[in-house]
Amino acid sequence: MADLAISRRAALMGAGAAAAWLASPARALLQATGKLDVPAFVDQLIGRMTLEEKAGQLQLMAAAWGGGAALTLNPPGNASNFEGQVEEARQGLLTGVFNGNGARMARIMQTAAVRQSRLNIPLIFAADIIHGHRTIFPVPLAEVASFEPDLARRTAEAAAFEASGAGIDWTFSPMADVARDQRWGRGVEGGGEDPLLGRLFAAARVRGFQGADLRSTEHMLACIKHFAAYGAAESGLDYNVVDMSEERLREVYLPPYKAGFDAGALSAMASFNEINGVPATANRWLMTDLLRGEWGFKGFVVSDYTGDEEMIAAGYAKDGRDAAKLAFLAGVDMSMQSGLYRQHLPGLVRSGEVPQAQLDQSVRRVLALKAMLGLFDDPFRRIDEKREAARSMLPKTRALAREAGRKSIVMLKNEGDLLPLPRSGKRIALIGPFASGAHDLVGPWVVYGDDRKAVDLATGVRAAVAQPHSVIVVQGSGVDQPLPGGIEQAVAAARAADIVLLAIGESFDMSGEAQSRTEIAVPAAQQQLAEAVAAVGKPVVVILKHGRALALEGAVADAQAILATWFLGTETGNAIADVLFGSYGPSARLPASFPWKSGQEPYYYAHKATGRPNPPGELQPYKAHFRGIPNSACYPFGHGLTYGKIDYSGLALSSPTMPMNGAIQMSATLTNRGKRSAEEVAQLYIHDRVASVTRPVRELKAFRKIALAPGASQIVRFTLTPADLAFYGRQGRPVIEPGTFDLWIAPSAEAEGVHGTFELVA
Ligand code: NOJ
Repeated sequence: MADLAISRRAALMGAGAAAAWLASPARALLQATGKLDVPAFVDQLIGRMTLEEKAGQLQLMAAAWGGGAALTLNPPGNASNFEGQVEEARQGLLTGVFNGNGARMARIMQTAAVRQSRLNIPLIFAADIIHGHRTIFPVPLAEVASFEPDLARRTAEAAAFEASGAGIDWTFSPMADVARDQRWGRGVEGGGEDPLLGRLFAAARVRGFQGADLRSTEHMLACIKHFAAYGAAESGLDYNVVDMSEERLREVYLPPYKAGFDAGALSAMASFNEINGVPATANRWLMTDLLRGEWGFKGFVVSDYTGDEEMIAAGYAKDGRDAAKLAFLAGVDMSMQSGLYRQHLPGLVRSGEVPQAQLDQSVRRVLALKAMLGLFDDPFRRIDEKREAARSMLPKTRALAREAGRKSIVMLKNEGDLLPLPRSGKRIALIGPFASGAHDLVGPWVVYGDDRKAVDLATGVRAAVAQPHSVIVVQGSGVDQPLPGGIEQAVAAARAADIVLLAIGESFDMSGEAQSRTEIAVPAAQQQLAEAVAAVGKPVVVILKHGRALALEGAVADAQAILATWFLGTETGNAIADVLFGSYGPSARLPASFPWKSGQEPYYYAHKATGRPNPPGELQPYKAHFRGIPNSACYPFGHGLTYGKIDYSGLALSSPTMPMNGAIQMSATLTNRGKRSAEEVAQLYIHDRVASVTRPVRELKAFRKIALAPGASQIVRFTLTPADLAFYGRQGRPVIEPGTFDLWIAPSAEAEGVHGTFELVA
């Protein structure tokens, strides 16, 4: 991949410019990213450590004094009480803790480690800073809908600013797992179904969290997880096995992790799943041959929470000792939460089953990272109670959360231009379990955020309209259960209103870890509410709350307007109101396809054709389709409407052929024929018609977000080189094969937009 990237750059720049670039400081900088800097004192220190102290540096535990929602995010731990944990720090049996309780806790523990332990090695403090610390940003999947990687860089940076003020050195983020089965609950934490988007967002988040210098007290170490292919869990069941070809692994699932490492991430987390029969945690090919050998990763790998110990239940390790040995020898440097490394590594080294040199190497990586984070210079550099408070939820951070929120909202449907709504003159009924109230606003995977500091939908809507009292708010239903009299109240409110806003969908705990669903629909009680409210006959705007793509049905699917609003965090209500009332025109696009029915899962746009593809339109006998539903997505990847009307025309190619050492440019004209300005995401897809390994019906290769005033036109241009047409051949290496390629510049993965072909010639 790296070679391809260079050759692509070289092709774009021309040989002379490429030579200059190869010698430039910019390249040197790029090469310095992701490099482990091992100061000489680290080896001296290792020389003084006992085996027990070395194993201690490889043992990470959940903080016994947990903060926020820490306790509910993982199975109950086997940690000692806080005093006991502080004692472990004193004895050098702990490298650090995660999901703890802010600067005060960190100060107590760090003091024990650096003032009272034998070698005074500082602890590292980690946390799941997934989409914010105190200020909560949209869930990662929602942010990907912005198709604006730099937005994710900015929110990661803002999260790092708050969290690093609270003593946190290391985040377990970003999650770079491609997720193509919406039944899986953890798609909410990732980059969606597409490897290109996954790559761009993983890299952007790493840059945001880490900044330019790991010593910065406004940044922290990023961790690429869950390595690898966790998102491909069979049947969408969390923790389930993965069995896939190396071509698919390399082409679809690995690139986002690789992009995160290339952006400089110096830690990685092993995934819970097995791949082709071998747990990732004990997979030497993955953790050592590929990650370190092929990709040149220099940082350290941590297991996921008790992931090493879980290899016993999986039938791969005999007992805890065996599990520690298998994981460590495979290349997992640090163990999270099981305690197995500190328990068994000293004995394994003494018996000669684990080489001393390998133990030293892992300790060297961990200590080098602590040094790079500046912890040996000042172990308290990120621990500052005043700074923790001073940085919490600043107006500029909340403003960014609002910006990120509105940029993450996808308008799926807007019949008759129902949206945007006028700010006055309409009576609004805001109905549904997510219409008001603090619960569910910040979404899954939040340790330190607080729903009570978030703006709910009712507050946001009332703040946006001229007559706040004209907004009637009715719950109508619980999330899963009907409310006594709820439907009657909702129907009465709808009758008295001009417009209904129906806030329905999934609660925060229906996605995230261990939250697989068999039906990815709106829960039945809420569907009944929607049917009853729709029967009143008023225009309905459905405002979905969800951590995954959903299969919409009945009155929900038939509503005049539908907004996919995910979990938007602290500024939820304001962000949604911005879009509803038009102070912001929706610009986001689906990062995951909405199927017609749950049974289509895994549904993803980049599927293969099969030998019997159903042609577009009518279902045909003996063709590949499900009975009774269209052979497509209900709302495909890349779909999202604006308040403009964007027309695609005039595809132009610089040449009908692309030579193997060349490139072609392509362009299309986008015109806004609507009455309101719009931000459009033009997407470039290709399809390789015939190849030695069958290719997806479409693949996203590039996109551009452009602003268009009413009546304005703009030409969007893209460049493709042969490297963009490469795929993994049967030998597990990238190949580029001559032949005919379709291309589309289109508003979604299933829209026609403008379509043409070109030849790649040998
Ligand atoms: C388990 C999850 O899989 C992982 O993503 C998380 O970082 C750890 N628990 C720690 O909370």
